[in-house]
Amino acid sequence: MEKRRAVGERRQAARPFIKWAGGKKQILRELLARAPQTFGTYFEPFLGGGAVFFSLSPSKAVLSDLNPHLMNAYLVVRDRVDELAESLEVHRADRDYYYMMRDLSPETMSDVERASWFIYLNKTCYNGLWRVNKSGRFNVPFGRYKNPRILDRSNLHAASRALRAADLRCSDFEDAVQDALPGDFVYFDPPYLPLGGTAVFTSYTGEGFDVSEQERLAEVFRRLSRKGVFVMLSNSDVPLVRRLYRGFRIDTIQAARAISCRGDRRGLVGEVIITGY
Ligand SMILES: C[S@@+](CC[C@H](N)C(=O)[O-])C[C@H]1O[C@@H](n2cnc3c(N)ncnc32)[C@H](O)[C@@H]1O
Repeated sequence: MEKRRAVGERRQAARPFIKWAGGKKQILRELLARAPQTFGTYFEPFLGGGAVFFSLSPSKAVLSDLNPHLMNAYLVVRDRVDELAESLEVHRADRDYYYMMRDLSPETMSDVERASWFIYLNKTCYNGLWRVNKSGRFNVPFGRYKNPRILDRSNLHAASRALRAADLRCSDFEDAVQDALPGDFVYFDPPYLPLGGTAVFTSYTGEGFDVSEQERLAEVFRRLSRKGVFVMLSNSDVPLVRRLYRGFRIDTIQAARAISCRGDRRGLVGEVIITGY
């Protein structure tokens, strides 16, 4: 049974090694404050940048996401971090090089090359967005960073150590939590529902996460909770979310978020953290 370490006892914690839309850095304290004191295996099925995983640093975890390039990067960070660092070292953050990299076909790359390509684009593209066109090609323009840190060697090594505790899978959230047992802890951070008519970017993988997906997720949340799994979920504070999770504890918090689809206008928005325990 995992017993959460006091903050002071933690060894140098790893931080997310990529920037991800919906990153949980801002509301991390609120999430950690609601995590159970003890739990078995930790599950994070909408992994993205994995901020909660890296902060909790559990001794056993199942981490997954539907984005295959993202999950390949996690596997390579865990298993081949030295080769990855060597490959990241050669990249340059200039416009021409960026567009040359963006146009490469990841299908022809080795796993290490593909992870290096993915991390490079993430660090140098506009706002760290991952967005693909209809044919699955990455299409985000060059970012405006002065001197982006493409290789952060000590954090990559810390992330690699933290990930030794993790089983990594590229899968749908429902499959990923099938084996969760009573006493395990699952944190769901799905693509958020848009707030009021704003066109919020939710198409992380090419397929959107629509209302029927939110309903399927609420069903899985209920099922796990009935089974005795500790379940926590975050989403935007909109009526549909409150309806889907009626009967569970719903805490409201405020977070500064990108509020336009261009990701450059920010404002305070209401979010909810829902717990089944
Ligand atoms: C809100 S982001 C997660 C942010 C992350 N927790 C962080 O701190 O950076 C949502 C993630 O869900 C993934 N996703 C979308 N649909 C999915 C599905 N059906 N199953 C699993 N993951 C999915 C996306 O690829 C994206 O990485």
